[in-house]
Amino acid sequence: MSELTEYQGKATMEKITSLAKRRGFVFQSSEIYGGQSGAWDYGPLGIELKNRIQAMWWKEMTRLHDNIVGLDAAIFMHPRTWEASGHVENFTDPLVDCKKCKARFRTDMISEENLAAKKCPDCGGELTDARNFNLMFKSHIGPAEDTASIIYLRPETAQGIYVNYKNIIQSNRMKIPFGIAQVGKAFRNEIVTKNFIFRTCEFEQMEMQYFVKPGTDEECFNDWRNQRWAYYEKLGVKMDHLRWYKHEKLAHYAKDAYDIEYLFPMGWRELEGIHNRTNYDLGRHAEFSGKDMQYIDQDNNNERYIPFIIETSAGLTRNVLMILCDAYDEEQVAEKGNDDDWRTVLRFHPDLAPVTVAILPLMKKDGLAEMAQDIRKNLQDDYATDYDQSGAIGRRYRRQDEAGTPFCVTVDYESKEDKTVTLRFRDSMEQVRVPIEELSTRLRQEIKSYKRIK
Ligand code: GAP
Repeated sequence: MSELTEYQGKATMEKITSLAKRRGFVFQSSEIYGGQSGAWDYGPLGIELKNRIQAMWWKEMTRLHDNIVGLDAAIFMHPRTWEASGHVENFTDPLVDCKKCKARFRTDMISEENLAAKKCPDCGGELTDARNFNLMFKSHIGPAEDTASIIYLRPETAQGIYVNYKNIIQSNRMKIPFGIAQVGKAFRNEIVTKNFIFRTCEFEQMEMQYFVKPGTDEECFNDWRNQRWAYYEKLGVKMDHLRWYKHEKLAHYAKDAYDIEYLFPMGWRELEGIHNRTNYDLGRHAEFSGKDMQYIDQDNNNERYIPFIIETSAGLTRNVLMILCDAYDEEQVAEKGNDDDWRTVLRFHPDLAPVTVAILPLMKKDGLAEMAQDIRKNLQDDYATDYDQSGAIGRRYRRQDEAGTPFCVTVDYESKEDKTVTLRFRDSMEQVRVPIEELSTRLRQEIKSYKRIK
């Protein structure tokens, strides 16, 4: 058995980035031109994983809650939106520049000593005074490039929900408390974009805004904190890799705020924020638009009030990174009689895995490939399938382990005789014989009863 090196068995950002590229999860944007920082492309496995994470969140928020509905608002919004929300004035990072090497830093990213001495942490050169730098991307819409044509790329999806809150009450007869869920792109001109897809300039958010009566907000806030925690438990995430972080310094709109943090390979980092945003946003939109944003409670003597908002705001692309890190495992398998000492395996929950079942004929010849293709066709409607007929079977299993495929089906000579196949489990590497006609039902049962073993 080979000796353990320092990095064997451990997830590092380098290994995850390299696996993500090698297996087609995530590629650097415009790589042939040297890459575009802050932007990433999701490959064949990556888009499947991202879609499944999004679908789980969507189901959790909308289908499993009678009083939450969906929305897909435009990325372009009237520029007054961002004045009302406070983003034009407040959505800034304090930055310093090095006069010598021209590097730019967020002041909270450099040490207090360097900041006090105005000394560049990279080259020792002199730093400029800190200035506030707005994180919103600004462009112009229409033919003229003047102040009247300014347009922003939205820095959060939330505002699209607030400006539609009255439309949704009217069209869908919603009664407080109710929620609106949305998934979509957001853009921020982030200066520090390291750590792969953790913090990027273009990313996706999954946000839900819950409209409540003032006075009930604190109870609702606690309830949503519990629900969001339970959601990650349901996803099968390692719960000792999650913790709460309470914000002491609150954003301009918030009364209370907690983050759910995940233990990424680079340390504890924010995964999702749960915020009590008070009636700040709707109040400001009422003020800036001149429209009445009050809710009229017809069941309560037409009582009028501007609702408080409890927000749950998760990064979809950051969730992809979290799920990749959480699933990543390296395992020494020599004692189990395999020829490789180590295998890399992504232990995705079967509901999240980009491929649920891979069909592998032991040989291409003797009708095995055709038989395997037929099995694949029969499963395709219900499961995400893959088909691989090239290379030794052990290597094909390893490739599927790396892609996080929970089940492999091997078609061999016995299959021709007795119409059974080998069902191989990714996590335990156990193999059982299953009649072909029972395969679909068996897979359904295995997915339903899935328990992570490591
Ligand atoms: N509407 C509230 C809001 O946008 P936020 O804490 O700024 O709050 C919410 O962002 C979530 O969006 C974060 O917890 C994170 O998961 C994700 N997120 C924020 N900035 C991001 C970035 N630059 N790249 C990737 N994800 C980001």
